[in-house]
Parts: sequence; structure tokens; C-alpha cells
Amino acid sequence: MSSSNIHRNNDLTGRNLFRSAELFGRGQRVITGGNARLTIFQRPHPIYFTKGIGVHLVDVDGNTYLDFLNNFTALIHGHGCRPVLDRLHHQLEMGISFSGPTELEVEFAELLCDRVPYFDQVRFVNSGTEAVMYTIKAARALTGRLKIAKLEGAFHGGYDAIEVSLDSAPSNWGPRSVPNAIPYSAGISESLAADTVVLPFNEIGATREILERNRDKLAAVIIDILPQRAGLVPIDPTYLAFLREFTARHGIVLISDEVMSFRLSYRGGISRFGFEADLCAFAKIIGGGLPIGAVGGPSRFMLPFDSTNGKPLVPQAGTFSANPMSMAAGIATMQSLSEQSFQQFEHLGEYARASLNEIFRQNRLPYSVTGMGSMFRIHLRAEAPKGYREAHAAAEQQRKMDMFVRALQDRDVIVSPTCQLCLSTPMSIDHVEEMVTGVREAAQMVEAA
Ligand SMILES: Cc1ncc(COP(=O)(O)O)c(C=O)c1O
Repeated sequence: MSSSNIHRNNDLTGRNLFRSAELFGRGQRVITGGNARLTIFQRPHPIYFTKGIGVHLVDVDGNTYLDFLNNFTALIHGHGCRPVLDRLHHQLEMGISFSGPTELEVEFAELLCDRVPYFDQVRFVNSGTEAVMYTIKAARALTGRLKIAKLEGAFHGGYDAIEVSLDSAPSNWGPRSVPNAIPYSAGISESLAADTVVLPFNEIGATREILERNRDKLAAVIIDILPQRAGLVPIDPTYLAFLREFTARHGIVLISDEVMSFRLSYRGGISRFGFEADLCAFAKIIGGGLPIGAVGGPSRFMLPFDSTNGKPLVPQAGTFSANPMSMAAGIATMQSLSEQSFQQFEHLGEYARASLNEIFRQNRLPYSVTGMGSMFRIHLRAEAPKGYREAHAAAEQQRKMDMFVRALQDRDVIVSPTCQLCLSTPMSIDHVEEMVTGVREAAQMVEAA
């Protein structure tokens, strides 16, 4: 397809995106699907970026946007955070990666263990997917059991054991109180999916019944305290307390996937609720924009990775695990995140959610907003969803969402395809107000259409 053809299909209005269209055309010839990340794909083509400056992004056609996505929540300081750049420049000169450990990984592990109350130790990997995978392997090794329980609709990355019940639909999701385990990707066998038990989010009675039935076979219960795909609805503290108590009583490992929710407080996600996980998988913000993942927890749960006495139960290596560039960026990022940064996120996040609710009410827009702290998500439904089933968009609703997201891009605001947004530390009330105006105009345009 020629780039002009692609561009003619573009229903973005009044915006020159010729270079993006052209690059997608070129990409399609040599990259399967045209680009390398499913989550950033949009029809007719994604926007290709060249530069990030603070809260802004510039695309290849010279358009400037407010970045309310921050590489899917990873860039907590936005673009070009000075301490991160300085530390990276220094590390570039010192060496990009070595076939041996560095002081940086010790320094970074100390920083993280100081912050998160229940961490004695951490291990570094290269992505959130890997971090989740290793928590599951460790849980299986520790318990000698195979089954994993997860929340309906929650996304935990691309590892087979957990790629279940991500996009199930009314036709296959089964009863609300006993959700079906539907494989997300082709190639996941039924027997593999059968080792993954799906829990109805925030519903204690039904969850207890499922857990009781499986308790002797369960290695782990993996949770996300603010699951994006399940609506970005916070976990109910009573539900969390129940899961914590049940797993402890039955020797099941409680894994907190904080790949996104680690940005919810100075001490991480589950700590915000006053609870401790047995193992935590985290990534995104701790890499300061570079690839990273990590597993953390009390020493006895981290034991499967210990190789000091011979082959560990769970061998974990990785050419780029704990590479000095990611460590350097991570240290500078986390050092620049104070308790006060999180207080500001709380205020600005509350202000953003309240302002959005206000414009929805004032303009009679059937929209709602969910979220917590620095993260929020807009839903094209009047009543905020309670979990995955209400947040799930049927095909027509998804088309409307696509149109809304593109209308926001037209108004210089970048959000995720599901309309997830997040704050970065350089953001102020002015940026939030600019975003809110964009949302109002985009919503009015979509509703008029
Ligand atoms: C909650 C959660 N877990 C795991 C992952 C996978 O992380 P990565 O994309 O770094 O592999 C993501 C990615 O968005 C996520 O949001």
C-alpha cells in the first residue's frame, strides 16, 4: 500500500501525519504488522515520534502533543529528566554493558530494599513479562504445585501461564462467579490454561469458593491492585485482606504484579494498602525509560534464585539483566522520586478525576473515570465499571473508543488505546486542564458523530 493510500484512510482531521503514514508503509514491508508493539498499534497507522521534552512529545511531522501516556506509565518523570540524563551520559562513557556485575546493581537493590518494607532482596531482569514469569516459577518451585490463580481480565505480560482471561467476551467468559479460563494467545494448550484459575475481581464469596476448591494445587495467587484491563478499578481492601489471609493460611504464594502499580506510592503498590506480598514483580518506572524488570520479596521467597550453593531451583540469567545503563537510569529516577512527589500525584490525580467527572456531568456526556493516584482511565459509559465485565468494550463501543482516542490526538493529547492516562512529575494543573479541555471537545465531537 502506498503511503498516500494509507493517509487517505486516515480519519484524523486537520493534522499532517504524512511522515508517520509513510514510515508505517515502509515498516509494513519489513516488520510483521508494520510496527513492533501490539499495544501501540492504531488504525490506519500509529504516530511515529522523534522527540520527548518534559511533558511533550514531537512526532515525525513536527506535531507536538501533551504526553499523558508516558510510555504506558513507565516515564514517571516525563521526558529528559536531568538527573537521569546526567547519570546515563556518565554511564555511557564508563561502559554500556559488561559480562560481570557492577556496583550499580548493589546500590539499586539497596535503594529498593530500603523503600519497600517487605523486600529483603531483589533480582533484576529486563521486562515486566520476565519479572512476572520468574515470580510464577519461584512460587511453583517453593510449593511444588502448578496452579496459578489470577483476577479476571488482568494483564500480566506475555508469559503462557498467565496469558489467560485477558479478552474473554460475553460469548465465552462463563458465569460471573466462576469465570472461564480462556487462552489469550494461540498456542496455549487447554491443559496449560487449565492450570490457571480465574477469580472474579473484588467478589469475596465467589473467590473463596474457587480458592477452596483448588487450594491444595495452587502455587500462587497473582494480583494487580489496580488492574488496567479490568477497568483500572482499585482492589477492595477487604478483598485484598481476604486474599492475604487465605494464601498465608494455605501456603500459597501471594504475588503482587506492580509493573504499573509500583507507581502508586513511595513504597510500591500493595504497601499503599498496608499489606505485604510474598513476591512482587515490578518494572516500568524503575528503569527510568530503559528496559527493566525486577522481582522482590522476603529472603525465604527469593531463595529459589540463590545460586551460591549450586544450581538454583529457578535459574535466572539474562544477557542484559542488571545492565549498568538500566541500573543507572533506575537509580537516578528513584532518587528523584520523593514522598512529596507522590503527594503531588495524589492531589493532581484527584483534581484530574474530579475535573473530568465535572465536564461529563456539565455536558451530559455518558462517560466516567476510574483510577487512583497518578493513573486514571476514561470509560465511554455513564456508570464507572466495577471490573472487567463492565469495562469490556463490545466491537461498536471499541470503534467509538478508537474515534475518541484519535480525536484526543487531534487535540494534542496522547492516551492509550483503552484511554488510560497517567501523570508525570513535571505535570501541573495547567497541563491537566489542557487535557480536560481536549477530552471535553473530543467527547462532544464523538457524541455528535
Ligand atoms: C500489570 C502488568 N504486568 C506485566 C506487564 C508486562 O510488562 P512488559 O511490557 O515490561 O513486559 C505489563 C505491561 O504493561 C503490565 O501492565
